[in-house]
Amino acid sequence: MDFKVKDLGLAPKGRVQIEWAEAHMPVLRLIKEEFRISKPFKGLRVSAVLHVTKETAVLIKTLLEGGAEVWLAGSNPLSTQDEVAAALVEYGAHVFAWRGESKDEYYWCIERVAEVLPNIVVDDGADLHAYIHSKGLSSKVNGGTEETTTGVNRLRILEREGRLGYPVIAVNDSYTKYLFDNRYGTGQSTIDGLLRATNILIAGKVAVVAGYGWVGRGIANRLRGMGARVIITEVNPIRALEAVMDGFDVMPMSKACEVGDIFITATGNINVVDAEHLTKMKDGAILANAGHFNVEINVNALESLSISKRTLREHVVEYTLRNGRKLYLLAEGRLVNLVAAEGHPSEVMDLSFANQAYAIKYLVENSGKLSRKVYKLPDEIDESIARLKLKCMGISIDELTEEQRRYLSSWELGT
Ligand code: ADE
Repeated sequence: MDFKVKDLGLAPKGRVQIEWAEAHMPVLRLIKEEFRISKPFKGLRVSAVLHVTKETAVLIKTLLEGGAEVWLAGSNPLSTQDEVAAALVEYGAHVFAWRGESKDEYYWCIERVAEVLPNIVVDDGADLHAYIHSKGLSSKVNGGTEETTTGVNRLRILEREGRLGYPVIAVNDSYTKYLFDNRYGTGQSTIDGLLRATNILIAGKVAVVAGYGWVGRGIANRLRGMGARVIITEVNPIRALEAVMDGFDVMPMSKACEVGDIFITATGNINVVDAEHLTKMKDGAILANAGHFNVEINVNALESLSISKRTLREHVVEYTLRNGRKLYLLAEGRLVNLVAAEGHPSEVMDLSFANQAYAIKYLVENSGKLSRKVYKLPDEIDESIARLKLKCMGISIDELTEEQRRYLSSWELGT
């Protein structure tokens, strides 16, 4: 059995965590039962790079139940839940992941899951897709999926350059993914990470959220709900206008940096909080990132502007700047929700991973029929996931009457 995890002895602790997640993931439970009977992945190798959490474990169990052989590495050096990784090895997955990997170890784990020449590649952030493409291994792959906005962006660049080696389903672009995971999942789990790390009071604080995409607006709304005065920074005029009309203050980071108590980045871009901002921040300002990569806060600049640093609490490093002010960086500028907390709640990952499971099934069913492009999961599948979730929540909705259906499909009927 090929694996490398922190400690297999943690497996019993992991198993109960996974049980807890599974109890809150009814859609994935139904899909697991479907796959148990139909075995859609029999004889297939699936390699995945995902945050190794209790929710991911429920997805991996679903794939194993469907007959796949699964290799798994973590999609962030600090997000792996070691007890979950251990339990997954017991379930039969080849797991290469532990919390606190160095950069070299992180890529060593990615190499281990790439070198088995998988049929299907499942990714969160596109590091595995990028690795497979950079090593010329893509011709062996039947298809892939991608979980995040950042990863889909990278894959669309490969597609535009004519270099995408296999069809990819942009799971992120399903309505039942980004409207829920990005907004409500990141919205809640980012606050969870912020509070577990700092235990500060949010009410009365000035919170600056960089980026008003689905993640940024989720975070901004939750912060507002807890009594913060929220400022949005944006580069996109339409999103900025939306933020204004949603009732937020909007201003450039060069101004926001002078008034914020808490800064949370959610842009997917680099150096959104840069040296020029760090030097103008108030004493005691807290910095956290909710975007996929640790590039949004310029941590190197923070290091060089500082005369000293110390770890004050787990996931909180205090930097003393040359100007005498202290700034507090959470989770090394990595995803605060997965490093300082447990990532998105299971209920929301139920939707995201239902999309992953059906995307993999779609790739297998349509193997050889798809081009080397980035696709959305068909709307019928997206809608079927929403229907299943509603059903599991005990909520029923109306159906169009025959008359309404006719009305919607005719152009003649006006006033
Ligand atoms: N991304 C964000 N939250 C997550 C979770 N709980 N599990 C896996 N991936 C995630």
